[in-house]
Amino acid sequence: MNYVKVFAHRGASAYAPENTLAAFRLAEEQGADGIELDVQLTKDGQVVVIHDENIDRTGTGTGAVRDYTLEELRKLSFHNHMEAYEGEKIPTLEEVLTFVKQGRMEVNIELKTGVYWYPEIEKKTIEIVKKAGMEERVIYSSFNHYSVQKILSMDTKAETAYLYTDVMLDVEKYAEKTGVQGLHPAVFHLYMSDFMKRYQESGLKIRVWTVNREKDMKNFIEAGLEAVITNYPDTAIEVRRQV
Ligand code: G3P
Ligand code: CA
Repeated sequence: MNYVKVFAHRGASAYAPENTLAAFRLAEEQGADGIELDVQLTKDGQVVVIHDENIDRTGTGTGAVRDYTLEELRKLSFHNHMEAYEGEKIPTLEEVLTFVKQGRMEVNIELKTGVYWYPEIEKKTIEIVKKAGMEERVIYSSFNHYSVQKILSMDTKAETAYLYTDVMLDVEKYAEKTGVQGLHPAVFHLYMSDFMKRYQESGLKIRVWTVNREKDMKNFIEAGLEAVITNYPDTAIEVRRQV
């Protein structure tokens, strides 16, 4: 049976504030094979790790990430109910990669380019990955497929994947034709029509998200997909152990 990797979605985000160094550290401690994270661009052009375009949901401020400099963002705290994590700040991509590099985890960088046009975010992200020497352990993905193709045009060796929520016709052919090695479908796809079988036969790297229910973890681990992306890496690892 294939070894199915466990990727921690925004870090071990069920237990620590999402997309923080604490969440990534915890993912590693729990034994995750990789982490998934989201990147946006600040006003002063820094690549930072945060899921939303706005800081309101996760931080003690309001407004768009792109309207704040990195220094300003650093002054914010996280809204969280977890006292143990009070000092956490929004990390830069560089900081996260510096941490991850010390271990063996892979990193799925999701470019959040679906709402704003962030000038040169693809180029900047590639540069940070290369500077960190993490090219072999990074997978770039985005719901914005233009961004994914842009990454490939700038770095033909980059490992990439298409993210999508809606079912796409002939998605395997589309990936192959455009030189993209992976597909990141939402969980429900795998239960529709013959998608599970198609994905298994595709030869593409299928990393499914967000797999938080144990029965889904079990199904996808048994199916031998490339990875499950979950907020609960500890549970997925335990499920994998029992399969
Ligand atoms: O990359 C998989 C998943 O993270 C995509 O959705 O909204 O959690 O970024 P979202
Ligand atoms: Ca994401």
